[in-house]
Amino acid sequence: MPKDYIVKDIALAAFGRKELTIAETEMPGLMALREEFGTTKPLKGARIAGSLHMTIQTAALIETLVVLGADVRWASCNIFSTQDHAAAAIAAGGTPVFAIKGETLEEYWTYTDKIFQFAEGTCNMILDDGGDATLYILLGARVEAGETDLIAVPTSDEEVCLFNQIKKRLAASPGWFTAQRAAIKGVSEETTTGVHRLYDLHKRGQLPFPAINVNDSVTKSKFDNKYGCKESLVDGIRRATDTMMAGKVAVVCGYGDVGKGSSASLQGAGARVKVTEVDPICALQAAMDGFEVVLLEDVVKDADIFITTTGNRDVIRIEHMREMKDMAIVGNIGHFDNEIQVAALKNHKWTNIKDQVDMIEMPSGHRIILLSEGRLLNLGNATGHPSFVMSASFTNQVLAQIELFTKGNEYAPGVYILPKALDEKVARLHLKKIGVKLTELRPEQADYIGVKVEGPFKADHYRY
Ligand code: NAI
Repeated sequence: MPKDYIVKDIALAAFGRKELTIAETEMPGLMALREEFGTTKPLKGARIAGSLHMTIQTAALIETLVVLGADVRWASCNIFSTQDHAAAAIAAGGTPVFAIKGETLEEYWTYTDKIFQFAEGTCNMILDDGGDATLYILLGARVEAGETDLIAVPTSDEEVCLFNQIKKRLAASPGWFTAQRAAIKGVSEETTTGVHRLYDLHKRGQLPFPAINVNDSVTKSKFDNKYGCKESLVDGIRRATDTMMAGKVAVVCGYGDVGKGSSASLQGAGARVKVTEVDPICALQAAMDGFEVVLLEDVVKDADIFITTTGNRDVIRIEHMREMKDMAIVGNIGHFDNEIQVAALKNHKWTNIKDQVDMIEMPSGHRIILLSEGRLLNLGNATGHPSFVMSASFTNQVLAQIELFTKGNEYAPGVYILPKALDEKVARLHLKKIGVKLTELRPEQADYIGVKVEGPFKADHYRY
């Protein structure tokens, strides 16, 4: 049989498998789902097109989906986030995967196309992180339906490659995008930025199937985005630069969940952290957590480390980078690279230090160190979040896939969140591993606060 995968080196599979075996011991939620659903196989018949950082933790997710009966094809959702040994282990296990750390943008969209190439002709589920797989099909189908102006004028390198891939697929297989779109029962979306895209599509009447917003399960965004970044941000900066954190002045742009974890990460390493925010509630939170809340313009000359966490565009602009002190470190941990105006640096002098680390000279002669070309640095320069926290995120992902695959027909197109009982179940599955002893409500106490002894324990509007 011709090989149905693209990985850096299949010989890395044995190393990947060893790390995967360790990861499984730290992913109790996923392992519990294998136990609970391994024989009933609720995902039998599911053909899942997956687009999510191809790491060791994701390998454990993929293998859980397979144990539950799914056919899976996978690509990474970022050109720098793949762990090649993880991809090799998955390919060697027989699941088609298309992901190489450092792939080009052109390859990125080719690989995205490949996750939809099931023998049956179409996928029937998407598991997405950031929304690119969903975008590919929905945009392609609209172009196929005659809205050709949608891809007329690309505004970035990303768009050039995306539009070229759409054109190639349209030429090779007329009707392909429309058939894929029609076959999709639902999408589960991992991250804040992808969720924004889904709500936006729905608002414009362009979301043809139900989607589950995994990000806003409490056991996802209040854990992965926060505690995950708390561990992985500094890990990325250290692996990239080996710089001393203690005593440095770091600026974190944005104090949402990722900003909170990132600020704590830098503070924990001894950096003096300042925060920028646009939302008065988050600004007040930052101040009351002990961080000075500043304008970027006021600190740009003095700080040593700049990190964007906003999910917004043009947060660190060229005029800021021109003002920075010599050898300031600049990086982003939000989903897309447009938080930093990297394109505006293209005609400056770049010196590559090593993979995903560049030194760029400003007209003043000052240099900045740019991490992962502005792409999310915890996955570009390090290995992303630890397994334990990803277990919570991915347990939500699997539950969302089961819900949409088995009951998708009962949902109108729209964006949904998993019920609180399942959120609490995800948390519960992670307690034993870290020795948490949970107090049980007495019946009269449950009555008094108006909940059941077994939960759910909070109303939907509770914010944690
Ligand atoms: P969030 O919405 O909770 O936080 C973003 C914060 O940035 C908000 O408080 C907002 O007010 C603030 N903000 C927006 N524009 C700003 C500006 N111009 N200046 C300063 N602050 C500004 O979102 P969350 O969950 O923290 O996610 C942020 C980004 O990180 C998203 O792109 C998300 O997809 C990504 N993400 C990355 C992860 C990683 O491992 N690298 C993990 C989870 C999420």
